[in-house]
Amino acid sequence: MKNDIERILYSEEEIRGKIKELGSRIAKDYAGKDVIFIGILKGSVMFMSDLLKEVNIPCRMDFMAVSSYGNSAVTSGVVRILKDLDFEIRDKDIIIVEDIIDSGVTLQYLIKYLKARKPRSVEIACLLNKPERRKVEIPVKYLGYDVPDYFLVGYGLDYAEKYRNLPYIAVLKEEIYK
Ligand code: IMP
Ligand code: MG
Repeated sequence: MKNDIERILYSEEEIRGKIKELGSRIAKDYAGKDVIFIGILKGSVMFMSDLLKEVNIPCRMDFMAVSSYGNSAVTSGVVRILKDLDFEIRDKDIIIVEDIIDSGVTLQYLIKYLKARKPRSVEIACLLNKPERRKVEIPVKYLGYDVPDYFLVGYGLDYAEKYRNLPYIAVLKEEIYK
């Protein structure tokens, strides 16, 4: 796998430090609340797992799996729900946990979908954000890093379902995906 990597953008240590920061902010903001974290499969798995270990308050976790309709290069704005929530979220405080925001279309759809179930509040925790690529405004309360428009893999992020198990975040060599 290492031969396919251009360079490492964030090391394991850097990610760990950033997640500690985010986790303690969330723990402080949500103390005494009934919070449910909703991880978006599969990209958020590493982030969700490490983040929640740093959120030292009682909380619950749930997962959703979604996929974009049609060609992923042309975002249609329609998202198909492959796995829905196990929990009822009415009157709960929820935090959506995502790996990366690109156009923002996936999250825009999910926020609307979840808000229809009348949670008390909805916030977003996202490790990476590509501001240059944004098409719709998404308010991200807990953000790891703003990143340039490179194709990234590792720490949950995939290319064709591979590289998710790299422990760091890396720029994929262009020749692999071009
Ligand atoms: P959006 O709806 O355009 O914001 O799409 C976000 C989704 O695209 C993320 O959850 C990822 O699955 C995927 N994605 C966007 N950028 C990258 C990347 O650089 N590497 C891997 N997946 C990415
Ligand atoms: Mg994803």
